[in-house]
Amino acid sequence: LPCYLNGEFSTVREARVSVLDRGFIFGDGIYEVVPVYAGRPFRFAEHMARMDRSLAEMRMRNPRTAAQWRELVDQLIDRYARYAGTAAAQTDQLVYIQITRGVAMRDHAMPQDIEPTVYAMANRMGSYDAETRARGFSCVSADDFRWKKAHIKSTSLAGAVLSRQMSADEGAIETIMFRDGLLSEASSSNVWVVKDGAVAGPPRDNLVLEGIRYGLVEQLCRQAGIPFELRRIGRDEVLTADELLLSSATKEVLPVTTLDGRPVGNGRPGPIYDKLYAGYQLAKQ
Ligand code: PDD
Repeated sequence: LPCYLNGEFSTVREARVSVLDRGFIFGDGIYEVVPVYAGRPFRFAEHMARMDRSLAEMRMRNPRTAAQWRELVDQLIDRYARYAGTAAAQTDQLVYIQITRGVAMRDHAMPQDIEPTVYAMANRMGSYDAETRARGFSCVSADDFRWKKAHIKSTSLAGAVLSRQMSADEGAIETIMFRDGLLSEASSSNVWVVKDGAVAGPPRDNLVLEGIRYGLVEQLCRQAGIPFELRRIGRDEVLTADELLLSSATKEVLPVTTLDGRPVGNGRPGPIYDKLYAGYQLAKQ
């Protein structure tokens, strides 16, 4: 698999970072996951804007301009296509980008004047077949014990790993989390609640990662004439929802049909999911 590390292209098998990299020692870095459809990065400008927000929160500078990032990502896309033995325009891919603060002797305080570590890799884009999506997906719920800077796309992901495993242990796809009784998000996805034909999601604040799909779901709702609102959502509203949806770069939009072993709504993917899924497929073109 092709990758890029600090100025050079190689493979994930060959690339090496220092054991003193602050990404390794402290999880002191940020990342992005960019879907690529037919060889073209999807919503790239939005990913770059979110990366800048994460970097600013971490008091890190962006080592490249958006145009330089685009060039790098395009090169990786080409390399992955060659690796896969097809033309770039025939491939759906997932590009992962990570920037860490860099390499320095271990000290929690931020070292000055070190070069950030820049890493990126491309891989195939997984997808869920129509039959699986028609059955829907199971989730479990849990307390959101993560930190209060969930809006940073940080590589410090212990909270996400621990919470995701709760669902993995149950054979479920995600863990939907509540902080003080209010819906925040899932371990690596945003959560949408459908009631009486309207879509609601939690506000854009420091308690959720604002997925690139925040803006997209809003846009798809507007196009389909579906009322859309961001507001605080209580646990009872989630438990009595007509439909529950997950969104992320890799999941696009998925219907949650079971929560903690109980059916969501009538236990089948609903009409709002169908509309948003169809709109999403059009938006990709
Ligand atoms: N996860 N919330 C969290 C905590 C996430 O980690 C993600 C993405 C999202 C959805 O964001 P977006 O729509 O931009 O993918 C929400 C990525 C895919 C990951 O960690 O692999």
